[in-house]
Amino acid sequence: MTRKWISFTTLCLLMIIPIVALAGEGRAKKKRAKKAKMVKIRTVASISSLMVGQRIMMGELSKAMKSDPTNPKSLEKIAHLSEVLAELSNVNSVGKGKEAAYRGFSRSLRDDSLKLRDHATSESANADEMLALVSKIKGNCQTCHNQLR
Ligand code: HEC
Repeated sequence: MTRKWISFTTLCLLMIIPIVALAGEGRAKKKRAKKAKMVKIRTVASISSLMVGQRIMMGELSKAMKSDPTNPKSLEKIAHLSEVLAELSNVNSVGKGKEAAYRGFSRSLRDDSLKLRDHATSESANADEMLALVSKIKGNCQTCHNQLR
């Protein structure tokens, strides 16, 4: 009877090993997939150039907002410009020696620009909501310049 129990326990243990191994392999696979998605890139532009890019995007955005922002052509333009602006600010949010407030301003600039992109690509794009976002973005440029430039 005891021997039977021992061999039963051994059998159970032997079955657990591959299950644990498979689960571990699954977790490792997920980790590898996540790592592959998070490609690390090295930033290459100076802050000054990022800023000049941001100014150009803002200028073009303001133009596109003036001429009937909800027509399909303007919307497509606004979507692209705001997405590029978001990426410029995304890059501006990383890097050595940047204080938390600096990262905070550049992240909210990025997030508001993405919101603008989302408005421009939605079925029910609303000019007033987009204008409000543009002035929020402009305010962000101003605040960061006043406090940290
Ligand atoms: C997170 C802070 C921050 C935000 C947000 C920010 N800036 Fe700047 N900006 C700076 C700093 C710092 C400088 C000075 C860079 C330098 O001289 O190297 C600067 C400089 C500039 C310059 C001068 C660049 C040059 O060298 O000729 C322009 C133009 C500019 N910003 C435009 C903008 C615009 C437009 C926005 C908003 C869309 C914006 N910035 C948002 C921090 C910010």
